[in-house]
Parts: sequence; C-alpha cells; structure tokens
Amino acid sequence: MKPSTSQKTKSVANMELVYDLPALRSIIAKWKHAGASIAFVPTMGNLHDGHLSLLERASTMADHTIVSIFVNPIQFGLGEDYQRYTSTLDEDAEKLTANGLDMLFVPNLEQLYPSGIDADTRVTVPELSNILCGKFRPGHFSGVTTVVTKLLINTQPDIALFGEKDYQQLLIIRRMVTDLCLPVEIVGMPIVREADGLAMSSRNAYLNPQERSKASMIYKALQAAAERLRRNPEDIPAIESEAALSLDSVGFRAEYFSIRRLDDLAEPRPGDRRFSILVAAWLGSARLIDNIKVELNE
Ligand code: PAF
Repeated sequence: MKPSTSQKTKSVANMELVYDLPALRSIIAKWKHAGASIAFVPTMGNLHDGHLSLLERASTMADHTIVSIFVNPIQFGLGEDYQRYTSTLDEDAEKLTANGLDMLFVPNLEQLYPSGIDADTRVTVPELSNILCGKFRPGHFSGVTTVVTKLLINTQPDIALFGEKDYQQLLIIRRMVTDLCLPVEIVGMPIVREADGLAMSSRNAYLNPQERSKASMIYKALQAAAERLRRNPEDIPAIESEAALSLDSVGFRAEYFSIRRLDDLAEPRPGDRRFSILVAAWLGSARLIDNIKVELNE
C-alpha cells in the first residue's frame, strides 16, 4: 500500500490513510473545529493484539483515534534490528480498518527528519533515559522521545496511549510531557500476554520454535521474583542476581533483572511498598523485555 508521489491521503473503508503532514494537519483542524476529541496511538507497525488493545481503549476515550506507523531509525543503535524490522503495512491497515480506526498516519523519513537523521534536533529526558534499557541501548530513549514529540505536536491529541510492556518508555514519555508542558494526557495500558504468559511483542517473531517454547520463562522468572519480594522485601539484591542467573542457566542472556521503585524507577529505599520488577534478556537473536508490578500491603 505504498503511496504514489502525489498521493497524500486515501480512504480505506471508513479509515483515512494519511501520508503527509499538511494533509494530517488539515484533517485535524477540521476535527478540532467541530470540537471533537482525539486519541493517539503511536506504533512502529507489525501490529499484534497488544496494539489493538490500545486502539480499542482509545476509541472509548475520544471521538477520533489516530494510529501512526513509523519505524523510527534514530531509536535503533548500530547493529540493532532496524533493517530487520519489516514493514507489514498492508496487514496492519487491514487489522486497523477491521477495528474501526478513523485515521492511519504513515509519515516518511524526510517529513519527520527534514534536516536528516544525524543533524536533527533531539529531545532528551535526562536520568531516566540512561538506566536499565538506556544503559544497554545508548541514545535509544532520546530517539523515542524525539519522534514522539514530533508526532504529538502534529496529531494534537487529547490523550495518547502506550503499552506498559515498555514501562521505562512510558515513564520517560510521561516525564517528557510534564517537562515540555505538552497538553496531552498519557495513558498506560496493561501488558497483553500470549496463553503461556509471554508478553506480546513484534520481536517475538525472531524466535525459532525451540526458543518460542522457552520464552515464557522470562515471565515465570518475574512471577517467582515477585513472590519472593512479597515474602522478603529486604532480599532485593539476591532476588535480582539469582533471577538473572536462573535465566542464563536455561539459555537466555540477561542484560538486567532489576527491582525498582514503581513511580520513578529509582533504586528501592527501606520502607518502599510499590515496585516494578523489570527484565531485558536475549534469547537467540530476540531481545525480550518484560516487567511486573508488585505492591506490598501495609
Ligand atoms: O513503542 C514503540 O513502538 C515506539 O518506541 C514508539 C513509541 C512508537 C516510538 O517510535
């Protein structure tokens, strides 16, 4: 479903397929003029049920919903899977029309990066971007916050929805919206899991059948760590290191397995009751991330 050079919008069922910023802005101006509210779901395509749960929720929260598909090169590091991140635009558009979407926005690189990707202005959220995934993927979150800022400014939504699977990303975007005083509410949505507990992700497609049958162990390790944390919150360093070792012993390569404060991802302090347990681990050529929330009763 590639646009011809002159094509700016196209209607598929009741969905507007919009390829360019001026066309996007003119539809949004009409919606705003009519007093309609807008929900926005940014994605990189390869849509699965996790994305569709965001769309479903979005459509109950606003008059119009926009989904964007843009594989953002600046959030991929050297040697990461940017080239491998295949476009599934036709399949994605079909799923979105079947789910009653109003507008699919598919910008191209030149529009979002008019000065080129190297010379581009960046938006960076300090501190939160350099820990956990940020430590292993330098520049990744600055790539995310830069593109999300551009998308939010142009789609002008009242609300924007993000999955909690990328929990660190969600907190970074919330912080960015607060710091830049952007008039949008950020809504986090629960992780959608496969029947065996594996968090849905476009990158699960990189797993071979043998790896796929093992992959849900990452969620089981999170559940076991959560159970241990509930029983003994003083044990955090041991829980973290033993969980990472247990994943390594069954063929994962854990980058981190970390228990953090739920609201700011800082190292826990004595007396804390609300935690997020977060993990990133390689299985074959797939880098899997997942997390679980733990709240201790008083
Ligand atoms: O979570 C993602 O798919 C991406 O990081 C996002 C938010 C669409 C920005 O490219």
